[in-house]
Amino acid sequence: MLKLSMQALVCAVSLSVAGMLHAAGNAPISIKFAHVVAEHTPKGQGALLFKKLAEERLPGRVRVEVYPNSSLFGDGKEMEALLLGDVQLLAPSLAKFEHYAKQIQIFDLPFIFDDIHAVDRFQQSPQGKSLLTSMESKGITGLAYWHNGMKQLSANKALHEPKDARGLKFRVQASAVLDEQFKALRAAPRKMSFAEVYQGLQTGVVNGTENTWSNYESQKVHEVQKFFTESNHGAIDYMVITNTKFWNGLPEDVRSELEAVMGEVTVEVNKQAEALNQASRQTIVDAKTSEIIELTPEQRAEWRKAMQPVWQKFEDQIGKDMIEAAQAANSAP
Ligand code: LMR
Repeated sequence: MLKLSMQALVCAVSLSVAGMLHAAGNAPISIKFAHVVAEHTPKGQGALLFKKLAEERLPGRVRVEVYPNSSLFGDGKEMEALLLGDVQLLAPSLAKFEHYAKQIQIFDLPFIFDDIHAVDRFQQSPQGKSLLTSMESKGITGLAYWHNGMKQLSANKALHEPKDARGLKFRVQASAVLDEQFKALRAAPRKMSFAEVYQGLQTGVVNGTENTWSNYESQKVHEVQKFFTESNHGAIDYMVITNTKFWNGLPEDVRSELEAVMGEVTVEVNKQAEALNQASRQTIVDAKTSEIIELTPEQRAEWRKAMQPVWQKFEDQIGKDMIEAAQAANSAP
């Protein structure tokens, strides 16, 4: 009798353990992807495409939830959340990594890249790729670079020459390089999260900012800024990042499929980004609420001269080699 019930007990326990394992095996892996921009921007579109392809290729095995517009975590909180495991994918702008890897500040140096193609060539170079793994000791793995595009200036007054910016308050991302860039113009930079930009400009807490056409248009910045200056003085691009432990802990087949999907999405985002930015620029033109100032080559050279002293200030942190590799990317092979 005792023998029988022991057997029954063992059997019942092993069944329920097997049941639990089965249930665990069946539960899709939850991947939260949070970002701060609107859905019709390059990053917004990329996150949605990643969800679509990942769920199509790994049916029932992964569930991707996308949180745009700082709806889950905004600037300032998102990296911490990634390290705590509260979110699994982020794509912060490359200006937001200075606390994790000083070398990534290379992307913020004004006028270091002639255009987005140069940015792309640098990202694909050995030095560019090395930055993707530069934060692994801190628990962050870079999976890909996604483009947004080149930055333009905006203000409540016309900016033709560097001296026009003097004394104005400019919103900057949380980046020491960008802070210095505006100080070099004798302007007053104010670090502010992306979600606060519209209100900051509307209420006059800041008088101007810098961003891409897609970010301006999607945040309706043209409603609260009279002038844009097409300066193309820097880039806003992204590193898609994940928690290293989470990523390495995924089942091998899931991880390799997600990496393949990330590769495809990256190609697509980087192909579409320029067109999305140009469409946003056109929306701003059509809205007729602001003026877009185009610079002559001489005027652009003046802005470059005014901002370039910033390179020297960050050379030790970023590394001379890294700066040379970035400059080399300006000439196509
Ligand atoms: C910003 O804060 O201006 C950008 O980083 C926003 C973004 O993610 O494009």
